Amino acid sequence: MNESQGNSPLPLREGRGGSSIIILGIESSCDDTSAAVIKDGVLLSNVTASQAVHESYGGVVPELASRAHQQNIVPVVDQALKRAGVSREELSAIAFTRGPGLMGSLLVGVSFAKGMAASLGIPMIEVNHLQGHVLAHFIKETDPLQTSPLKGEDTPTSSSNGENTLPLREGQGGSSPKFPFLCLLVSGGNSQIIKVNAYNDMEVIGQTIDDAAGEAIDKAAKVMGLGYPGGPIIDKLARQGNPNAYQFSKPHIPGYDYSFSGLKTSFLYNLRDWMKEDPDFIEHHKEDLAASYEKAIVDTLMNKLRLAARDLKIRQVAVAGGVSANTGLRNAFHEYAEKYHWKIFIPKFSYTTDNAAMIAITGYFKYQDKDFCPMEAPAYSRVTIK
Ligand code: KG4
Repeated sequence: MNESQGNSPLPLREGRGGSSIIILGIESSCDDTSAAVIKDGVLLSNVTASQAVHESYGGVVPELASRAHQQNIVPVVDQALKRAGVSREELSAIAFTRGPGLMGSLLVGVSFAKGMAASLGIPMIEVNHLQGHVLAHFIKETDPLQTSPLKGEDTPTSSSNGENTLPLREGQGGSSPKFPFLCLLVSGGNSQIIKVNAYNDMEVIGQTIDDAAGEAIDKAAKVMGLGYPGGPIIDKLARQGNPNAYQFSKPHIPGYDYSFSGLKTSFLYNLRDWMKEDPDFIEHHKEDLAASYEKAIVDTLMNKLRLAARDLKIRQVAVAGGVSANTGLRNAFHEYAEKYHWKIFIPKFSYTTDNAAMIAITGYFKYQDKDFCPMEAPAYSRVTIK
C-alpha cells in the first residue's frame, strides 16, 4: 500500500548522494537498538546495541527496554552513518520498524525517524518487522562491512557475533531466493510459513495457534534454570546430548499451522515426574533434555514446511528470525535440501536476530515503489504480513 502518494507532507528530494538511493534503517521493536545504511541495495553499515539489563529478569522488561532505546538511539544512528561514510544530507529516506513489537520500544524508533526525516525534509518508509526478516535474504554486503558492535558505557555490547564477511555476497548459498519461495519465520514471537510471491506480496499460509517456537525454547530453558535468552543455551547443550533420549508429545494440528503449548507442557510434566525420583535430574541429564526437546521442535517445524513445499511445488526454501540461528534447525535444512532437492537460504547469524539491515533493505525496495508513509503514521504493536 502506498499511503502517502500525493498526501505526504514531506517534499521528495534527491539527496546529495546524486542518483544513488541511500536508506537509513532504524529498528527498535524489542530489546535491540539498531541502525543501518544501505546504498543502492548494498549494505554499508549495521550497528546494534543490545540490552544486557534484561538478563537478570529472565525476559525483556518493556519499560527498561524503552529507556535503553532512548539512551542508545542517538549514538547508534551516529555510528551507522559514520561507519558508512554517509552524511545525513545524503540520505534519500528513513525506513523504520513500525510494528509489530513492544509499543514503548517501537515509539522510540518511530519518533526518532519522524523527527530526523522532518528535519532533513526526506520521506519516511514504514516497515513491517516480519517482512524485514524475510527480506533479510536480499541484503548484499561489501567487504569490509562496518557491522562491528557498538561498545561504550551508555551503549551495551551488540549481539553481533563478529563473524567475518566475504566480498559481495547475498546470503548462504551464493544467491538470493527467486520468487515464489517459502520462508519459515521463527522467532520469540512468531512461527509462520510464508509464501513469498514478491518483495511486497507475502502470504502467511501457516502459523502457530498458541506459542511461538522461540517462546517454547525459552520457557524450557527457564524451567531448567538456565539463563535468558534460553535459545542459544539450549542450542549449545543440545550439541552434546542425545536427541533420541526422551520423547515429548508432539502436536497434531491440521494444515500448515503449528502448536507448541502442548509440547511445552509435556516437557514440564515429564520433568516434574523425573525429578520426583532424582531431584538432580536436570543437572544429570541437561544435554539429553536439551537435545530431545530441540529435536521435537525442529521436527515439528520441518514437517509442516515439507508438506507446504510438496503441496505448493516450491523448492526454494528460506528460514528467518531469531530461532534460525539454531544449529539443529540449520542442520535439518541441509538434510531436507538433500532429501527433497530444495535450494535453501539460511541467513548469516547477524541477520537472524533483530537488526536494522533488514529494515533498510525493505526500505530500499519500498523506496523504488515510492511507498512512503505520512508523518502521522503511528506505531503498531500487532500486525501480520498481508
Ligand atoms: O527474532 P528474535 O531475535 O526476536 C523476536 O522474537 O522478535 O528471536 C528471539 C528468539 C528467542 O526465543 C531466542 O531464544 C531464540 O530466538 N534464539 C534461538 C537461538 N538464538 C536465538 N533459539 C534456538 N537456538 C538458537 N541458537
